[in-house]
Amino acid sequence: MKKRFLSMLMASAMCLSLAACGGGANNDGGGSAASGSGTGGGDELITVGFSQVGAESDWRTANTESMKSTFSEENGYKLIFDDAQQKQENQITAIRNFIQQDVDYIMLAPVTETGWDTVLQEAYDAGIPVIIVDRMVDVSDEELYTSWIGTDALLEGRKAAEWLNAYATAKGWDASEINIAHIQGTMGSTAQIGRTQGLEEGIEKYGWNLLSQQCGEFTQAKGQEVMESMLKQYDNINVVYCENDNEAFGAIDAIEAAGKKVGTDIKNGEILVISFDTTNAGLTDVLEGKIVCNVECNPLHGPRAEELIKAMEAGEEVEKLTYVDEEIFAYDDTVKSVTATNSLDKEGEYAVTKLTQEILDGRAY
Ligand code: AHR
Repeated sequence: MKKRFLSMLMASAMCLSLAACGGGANNDGGGSAASGSGTGGGDELITVGFSQVGAESDWRTANTESMKSTFSEENGYKLIFDDAQQKQENQITAIRNFIQQDVDYIMLAPVTETGWDTVLQEAYDAGIPVIIVDRMVDVSDEELYTSWIGTDALLEGRKAAEWLNAYATAKGWDASEINIAHIQGTMGSTAQIGRTQGLEEGIEKYGWNLLSQQCGEFTQAKGQEVMESMLKQYDNINVVYCENDNEAFGAIDAIEAAGKKVGTDIKNGEILVISFDTTNAGLTDVLEGKIVCNVECNPLHGPRAEELIKAMEAGEEVEKLTYVDEEIFAYDDTVKSVTATNSLDKEGEYAVTKLTQEILDGRAY
């Protein structure tokens, strides 16, 4: 931001000294990143480097799309997008490239929480503001990033656990009858840490049985593989807690291939699948009763990140942390709402919406 204002000042000084300033010059701020479509002066594109985790899930695809459509040239941005293929070392390399290209802003969707101090210090020393999106970073000095925007994964996990308790209670199932298979997301990611903690607190509080806990890496293929191995090991699984929709798709395939049924009633031998994300395909499974409860993780961060950049461009202070409001959808209306505590220790009541085709049709992702 500081660098950008400086380069704008320098540009106007150059215009003055030349007495005339023709359009069409590239304004790539001393780097090489900006394309030639900026017209100079006030029309200069804002250069943003975005290091994306990868393309592991439907959620991620929606998130990438939101960022790309927001940070377009028509909107005044030159976006340098990098897909890290779920590898932190690729993200670190991408950030170093952004610094070298002297971008105006860096956006980072970090694969895991730890391991960012060195590279974020480099961005800080270069005077480039860093916006963290989606997952969080765990750094020794919070000054190393300017702002974070994303999901409250712990609250999501707690919502799911409270939903399971309320549903089981309404059905008259004893806690000792609940046998859970837990498919975790990428280990060390905010989404995994929070959703795992939410479930583990529920297990501690209500006394359900946790049969198995394995990592499904947030992908359909791994979710299926892990579920297959769990089904071979245990014949009494009746709840599968998947940490995202793609893991749930894989788990459902594995359950059905094993001749078992997903559904809503453990007394009928059905297996309840709980998931996160509420992507279009995930909610389609909710409508069909294959996923009984799906807790939203909203991926549409593009416009939110742009708001932050606009505020910074206007010289305004921005919030350090912004949590996005999210919903809960279920196959039926057995549970109307749940009470859960968020990451800021604030208790709230959250409505559970019985999904309909109309609601699904009206959703943006
Ligand atoms: O960090 C958000 C999580 O990452 C989403 O739940 C998942 O689908 C994605 O891969």
